[in-house]
Amino acid sequence: ILLLVNASMGRPIPETFFGIFFEEINHAGAGGLWAELVSNRGFEAGGPNTPSNIDPWSIIGDESSLVVSTDRSSCFERNKVALKMDVLCDSQGDNKCPDGGVGVYNSGFWGMNIEEGKTYKVVLYVRSSGSIHVSVSLMGSSGTPTLAAANIIASASDVSNWTKMEVLLQAKESNTNSSLRLTTTNKGVIWFDQVSAMPLDTYKGHGFRTDLVEMLEDIKPQFLRFPGGCFVEGEWLRNAFRWKETVGPWEERPGHFGDVWNYWTDDGLGYFEYLQLAEDLKTRPIWVFNNGISHNDEVDTSVVSPFVQEALDSIEFARGDPNSKWGSLRAGMGHPEPFDLRYVAIGNEDCDKKNYLGNYLKFHSAIKSAYPDIKIISNCDGSSQPLDHPADFYDFHIYKPANVLFSKAHKFDNASRAGPKAFVSEYAVTGEDAGNGNLLAGLAEAGFLIGLEKNSDVVALISYAPLFVNSNDRRWNPDAIVFDSSRLYGTPSYWVQWFFAESSGATLLNAKIHGKSSSSLLASAITWTNSEDKKTYIKIKIVNFGSRSVNLRICIRRLIRHSIRKSGSTKTVLTSANLMDENSFAEPRKYMILANAMQVVPIQSPLENAGKRMDVVILP
Ligand code: AHR
Repeated sequence: ILLLVNASMGRPIPETFFGIFFEEINHAGAGGLWAELVSNRGFEAGGPNTPSNIDPWSIIGDESSLVVSTDRSSCFERNKVALKMDVLCDSQGDNKCPDGGVGVYNSGFWGMNIEEGKTYKVVLYVRSSGSIHVSVSLMGSSGTPTLAAANIIASASDVSNWTKMEVLLQAKESNTNSSLRLTTTNKGVIWFDQVSAMPLDTYKGHGFRTDLVEMLEDIKPQFLRFPGGCFVEGEWLRNAFRWKETVGPWEERPGHFGDVWNYWTDDGLGYFEYLQLAEDLKTRPIWVFNNGISHNDEVDTSVVSPFVQEALDSIEFARGDPNSKWGSLRAGMGHPEPFDLRYVAIGNEDCDKKNYLGNYLKFHSAIKSAYPDIKIISNCDGSSQPLDHPADFYDFHIYKPANVLFSKAHKFDNASRAGPKAFVSEYAVTGEDAGNGNLLAGLAEAGFLIGLEKNSDVVALISYAPLFVNSNDRRWNPDAIVFDSSRLYGTPSYWVQWFFAESSGATLLNAKIHGKSSSSLLASAITWTNSEDKKTYIKIKIVNFGSRSVNLRICIRRLIRHSIRKSGSTKTVLTSANLMDENSFAEPRKYMILANAMQVVPIQSPLENAGKRMDVVILP
């Protein structure tokens, strides 16, 4: 079988081509990318009414020594619930407090990862009827030594009103299953609210978990679509993501219950932080906002204007003048320069909803008249028939079994070249074929992506979904990056994206398979000049979805002004003994250099016979 690559025939692939889609699903943000260690830091997760459930906070002490309750005495207007501790025991006397004191502890998101030598900043708000002596400590699982501790000591007059306290704790040891404890041995009443614990060293100092962001950097995303998905819509509108509730000082954010993926978020990772993440990754933010439609209720077009205004305000917040109403809030949060917001999506998967078109048109005309340069993404599929409304891109989602997704490599071959281009913002192999993220899924996705690359004149942006899963809360399976409090690994679907990292902005070459080939072989070729070493590269990607090895002769024709270097040319293979093989926490990255490791990750080796004509074997 022959693969002919014509190096003189090419067309540009859009700069935006490969990106990522971050959704707050599977505790991807809260308990994941956002490095906050405390879960339910404002005690609001149990709802706004008291008495309220304080989960996952737990009590240290029994009823003879401590009564813990909630009331609505917080100094924060949008989140009134505070924790009240009636300490009945004392440091001496008849009712002596147990060793270590009484109080509360929070294990965060299935245990906090505390690392030796690292510093953690604990911030909390406190009030009391008398003087206080509170120990703030980080502890491993029971029976293990204290990892770090400090005392908060204050006179009655200092804490008679709500007071912000801050301590820095340096860990003496590591423990991946730790908790934050607030304890005392002094009788009296103490209230706590907005208790936060964050490592000091987060990605670029902006609050993100560095190891997880580095996985994103490695696939060179050209855009960041956020914050959902269904998370944006909500099962009910009252639980949808509303950006204004997620900006400003973190203590004042009410937090909300995401009713699609069924968990509470304190919204420390809010609209501002998403824009910051995009900027830190040097990528384009794509803001998906609620358009007055959830899974179960809709705002009628005649009364949708508050939602339209909210969307306009969100754009002003992102890029308005620092003296404008919403731009000044951004500036006050430490970012006077505008964020580079140029793309918005009006809703998610709502095209078939009763009010979608009516609402969409209202959003579209208001945004285009205020911000003509903003590119607008419609939820309606324009791949089979032209859209009946104006849009810059149409959103396309596809979740299928492996064979079906592989065959969809040709989905856009006959799509209209005239209208808006496609944003394939969610794709994945799902169901039994995919396991928890196996080679079969990755392989089918690779074939699909080759098809999209070949159709990059009409497919402008692509992202896999979902991006992250905290292994303690798999709401959706499979996902690209699996993590817990301390570990992480990429599924084959992640590594497939890694193969396409150079595609954005590259030149797509004409690459055609000839001979008695089956439809299970797909190939594409790109070329680009690396800005760092100034060398020009050709990258040929081949997917063999069949059950036999293929002997392939690759011929690169019309290579003018360049020759192919033997030294430095490489071959990278993603395969495994079994199609259903998956990666695991056990050996997250070692495998990249161990060619014989049984892990589904790309293995790179020198391409000995690199040249204009080369024979390669593509494994089944
Ligand atoms: O990626 C998971 C979900 O799939 C998204 O929230 C939604 O857009 C789609 O249905």
